[in-house]
Amino acid sequence: MKHPLIAPSLLSGDFGNLEQELAQLGTADILHLDIMDGHYVPNLTFGYPVIKRVKELTTLPLDAHLMVTNPASHIDELARIGVNWISFHQECDLHSHRLVQRIKSLGIKAGIALNPAVPVSTLECLLPDLDYVLLMSVNPGWSGQSFIPAVLDKIRQLKRMTLEMNQSVLIQVDGGITAANAAGVISAGADILVSASYIFGSNDYSAAISSLRTPSIHSK
Ligand code: DX5
Ligand code: ZN
Repeated sequence: MKHPLIAPSLLSGDFGNLEQELAQLGTADILHLDIMDGHYVPNLTFGYPVIKRVKELTTLPLDAHLMVTNPASHIDELARIGVNWISFHQECDLHSHRLVQRIKSLGIKAGIALNPAVPVSTLECLLPDLDYVLLMSVNPGWSGQSFIPAVLDKIRQLKRMTLEMNQSVLIQVDGGITAANAAGVISAGADILVSASYIFGSNDYSAAISSLRTPSIHSK
C-alpha cells in the first residue's frame, strides 16, 4: 500500500501552547489550517495573526482549508504570509475556475473542497486545473466528528476520474480519520490524510502520525 502524506489539523491543538504543539509535529508532511468565518460554518477559528505566528514556528508547508463565504478576499493576505496550499469550497465562489487560476498564479497549490453531499462529477471541468481535491468525510465545522463511510465510494470515483482524465490531482480526505479507518481510505485512493482529534488526542503525536501513514504495520 502506498504511503499517504499526513496533514495534522491544528484545530484540535492546544492554542495556549502552539509552539510546543508544533514542535511535536516534525514527522508530519503538511500542516492543515482550518479557517472558519462563522458564516459558511457556525464555528470561528483563527485568522491572519495566528497563521503568521504559526508560519514562524514551523517549517511544514501550510495548507489553508477555507471554510468561509468569501474565499477570494483572503487569498492575497494568505499568500503574503506564505501559505503553500489553499482549498476553498466550490459553492463559495461563483467563478471557481478564475479563483483557482489566481491561487496558482501566486505559486500556491490550489484545491477545491467538496462537502459529503456534493458529488465528484461537479469537478469534471475543473479537474485539469487543480493540484488537489479535498473530500470532506464529515460535515465541516468541527473536529472530533465520526467518519462518514459513504465517502469511501466518492474517493474511489474521484480516483477513477483522475486516472481516466490522466490528471495527477492529489486526493485529500478530511474528517474522522483514525488508524482504524486509514487503511480503507488509503486503498480507496487518498493521497493526503488530514487528522485533528486522532493526532492531538494521542500521547505521542509522532506515533499517531506513523499509525496513519502505515496503518497496516500498526494494526499487526
Ligand atoms: C472540519 C475540518 C477538519 C477537522 C478534522 O471542518 O475541516 O479538518 O479539523 O478533525 P478530525 O480529524 O477530528 O475529524
Ligand atoms: Zn479541514
